[in-house]
Amino acid sequence: MMEEVLTALSPRPGGRYADGTLGGAGHAAAILEASSPTGWLFGCDRDCDAVEAARKRLAKFEGRFEIRQGNFAGMSEWIEAGSCDGVLLDLGVSSPQLDLAERGFSFQQDGPLDMRMDKSQPMTAAKLVNESSAEDLANIFWEFGGERDSRRMARAIERDRQMRRFETTRQLAELIERISPRAGKKAHPATKVFQALRLAVNDEIGSLKRGLDGALKILKPGGRLAVITFHSLEDRVVKGFGRTMSRDYTVIGDVDVPELRKPAVPKMKWVSRKAIQPTQAEIDENPRSRSAQLRVLEKI
Ligand SMILES: C[S@@+](CC[C@H](N)C(=O)[O-])C[C@H]1O[C@@H](n2cnc3c(N)ncnc32)[C@H](O)[C@@H]1O
Repeated sequence: MMEEVLTALSPRPGGRYADGTLGGAGHAAAILEASSPTGWLFGCDRDCDAVEAARKRLAKFEGRFEIRQGNFAGMSEWIEAGSCDGVLLDLGVSSPQLDLAERGFSFQQDGPLDMRMDKSQPMTAAKLVNESSAEDLANIFWEFGGERDSRRMARAIERDRQMRRFETTRQLAELIERISPRAGKKAHPATKVFQALRLAVNDEIGSLKRGLDGALKILKPGGRLAVITFHSLEDRVVKGFGRTMSRDYTVIGDVDVPELRKPAVPKMKWVSRKAIQPTQAEIDENPRSRSAQLRVLEKI
């Protein structure tokens, strides 16, 4: 969603932008190009391979960016508060991560059960699968994957791992296929469990919540936040954040009781109420974009 992101952030010379999910730096390069000759970009990615790829891709903009390896949840610790005109979070995994079997994200290729975006963190998918209780695993599969068979799958994993540790993506995918045969289903039966493990291993929802708060801090008034999500769980977090930041009252406790509301000044406003979807042309060119949704908020 290149055009849509550029329209949302409208980069201009002298502007300062932050890309919390550099990946291959396609968006970052476009932001730097559009803000030539004096626009500035702060960028980060949890994945050191992505940071290296981004450095190469952005070499021609040398002197106009600062890039670090790290979680966007910590962006406000190194980017000055109120300094940015635009922040981009393009969530999820990149094609290089998905396509490299050794990263362990894909059930379609055999690789180590890894799934870490940051290869230096101790938690891996193998550690989760082999060491969590069946109850914790079932909760992960249900909460992060919406997997209806979560308990049955977790119990089967617990049984199987007594004979042999789960070390590879193939081993886990085969167990799931055994329990829940494909039989004409559109999606592979391991899709939800793999998504759930990935979200848990990388604490993606927790990072997103902290990253949204951080983005609000580093934006200037009038600055825009663009977030691309790939599944409903992430989108719900972004929608909830936008709802909370754009209302003119605060809620006491977890439930919104109108009588208990306290007046407050909204911190952000929606640029468009509805999520922006990729065009059919983009989906045809890149089928992985079909579930992408872009939401844009502006700091007040
Ligand atoms: C969809 S790709 C981004 C593609 C990028 N916009 C481009 O134009 O090439 C997502 C990237 O975000 C990174 N990522 C995901 N969650 C992150 C987080 N919490 N902090 C930093 N990077 C993250 C992943 O490692 C991956 O490289």
